[in-house]
Amino acid sequence: MKKTIAIVLLVLVLAGAALAAFVLSGSYDIGADRPHWALTERVIDVLRERSIERHADGTTVPDLDDPQRIRRGAEHYAEMCTSCHLAPGLHGTELREGLYPQPPDLSTHGVHDPAEAFWVIKHGVKLTAMPAWGRSHDDAAIWDMVAFVRQLPKMDQATFEAMAGRAADDGHGGHAHHHGEGSDADHDHADADAGAHDHEHEH
Ligand code: HEC
Repeated sequence: MKKTIAIVLLVLVLAGAALAAFVLSGSYDIGADRPHWALTERVIDVLRERSIERHADGTTVPDLDDPQRIRRGAEHYAEMCTSCHLAPGLHGTELREGLYPQPPDLSTHGVHDPAEAFWVIKHGVKLTAMPAWGRSHDDAAIWDMVAFVRQLPKMDQATFEAMAGRAADDGHGGHAHHHGEGSDADHDHADADAGAHDHEHEH
């Protein structure tokens, strides 16, 4: 019995020393253009899923169907998220191309679990490019983004741009009567309207 314990301890010490030697040697390729082994990737996936599930558990989800909330979220999303998570009509960016892990395309993927999305947006994800937006935004602003991203896969480019552009011009709902403009396919009208808010399009 004592001998077994001694052997187990020796193996552990040797394994620890081998690990330390590997870490210190610098032979690990930490480049973002060299993917993990499939097994490592699998382990990280499970670690992330379980961590997010557990930390998001018990979160109270507010009303995410409020149109004002969705509109405020659109403004934030257009400003801070499209370079990594894309948008209707934006199918790739140079920033996103170089990232590992690749940020999910939220314009098609949306969010499936609002509490988990809230947690990820607020806290970010270590060793990925996903920032902790909770450092700079309060919970209400983060729920606005969750509410918006939930709707995003249903939006076409015109709807998205109208919503994001209008929200950036005027966050006070003064243009709420234009609500149907993105979906009415009347492009001349949409463009003329956008032209009035001059930074929406660059013509
Ligand atoms: C610099 C790139 C970058 C920016 C900017 C960014 N993200 Fe992310 N985001 C990521 C990456 C990378 C992941 C995947 C992390 C992982 O693999 O665990 C991610 C994951 C997420 C997820 C989880 C998706 C899922 O299904 O697992 C959500 C939700 C999310 N981001 C929302 C946002 C929102 C909202 C913004 C803007 C406020 C934003 N992100 C800005 C890189 C970014």
